Amino acid sequence: MSVFVLLPAAGMGKRMGASVNKQYLPLGERPVLSHTIALFDRHPRVDHIFVICPQAEMPLCQQQVIDPYGFSKVRGLVPGGAERQDSVRNGLLACGAAPDDVVLIHDGARPLLPFELIDAAIEKAEKSGAAIVGVPVKDTIKLVRDGMIEATPDRRHLWQAQTPQGFRFGAILDAHRLAQQQNYQGTDDASLIEWTGGRVAVIPGSYRNIKITTPEDLLLARAFLDNPGYPGMM
Ligand code: CTP
Ligand code: MG
Repeated sequence: MSVFVLLPAAGMGKRMGASVNKQYLPLGERPVLSHTIALFDRHPRVDHIFVICPQAEMPLCQQQVIDPYGFSKVRGLVPGGAERQDSVRNGLLACGAAPDDVVLIHDGARPLLPFELIDAAIEKAEKSGAAIVGVPVKDTIKLVRDGMIEATPDRRHLWQAQTPQGFRFGAILDAHRLAQQQNYQGTDDASLIEWTGGRVAVIPGSYRNIKITTPEDLLLARAFLDNPGYPGMM
């Protein structure tokens, strides 16, 4: 069994509002996306990495994010699609994994993933077929429509889904293919497995594992980077 990693990084970064795509913004001394790649590249259980980026940015991504850092497991750049789900599907179709291989799908925009969670995600995906990293929500969540609260779901059962999300390759490829055929849009990869009736395990993740989305996330990410020992694990 091999472990494949797909890193979707083909979004537009609209909420960041920067002039370049957010994954090329500097975090410490290197671009955000190269931190993410480095985590998986140095992980002993990871065999193959595919980075998914916009077709037009492939040369830039190669020159700025990959070439300077001497990664040894990056097997290729894959062109992304209009939605994240399209980007991931392109990666699944391009990576050449076998049905029993494990594939971890991880947002390029989450460069602060604690290393131990990679092991945990691989192990759980291997055992249960589908597993995601998540954290319990801290705030009370309201269901709101037209400015009015409709419901307050019990917070004890609410988790924020993060990545990595790990799967047996055959199962996630089938789910993505079916979703495309039936025009189903999920909000993450796990939701496609859920939609096909499959079960997905949750691994307690880390509040450090933020997705860099809006400008203040970069501030937070810099603070985490400067304080590697600060407890963020649950
Ligand atoms: N992503 C992707 N292909 C897309 C859209 C998103 O590969 N068509 C990737 C992003 O690059 C990111 C991850 O999926 O690493 C999570 O998406 P998000 O944080 O929403 O990033 P963007 O879509 O780039 O940001 P925004 O929604 O603000 O435009
Ligand atoms: Mg987006």
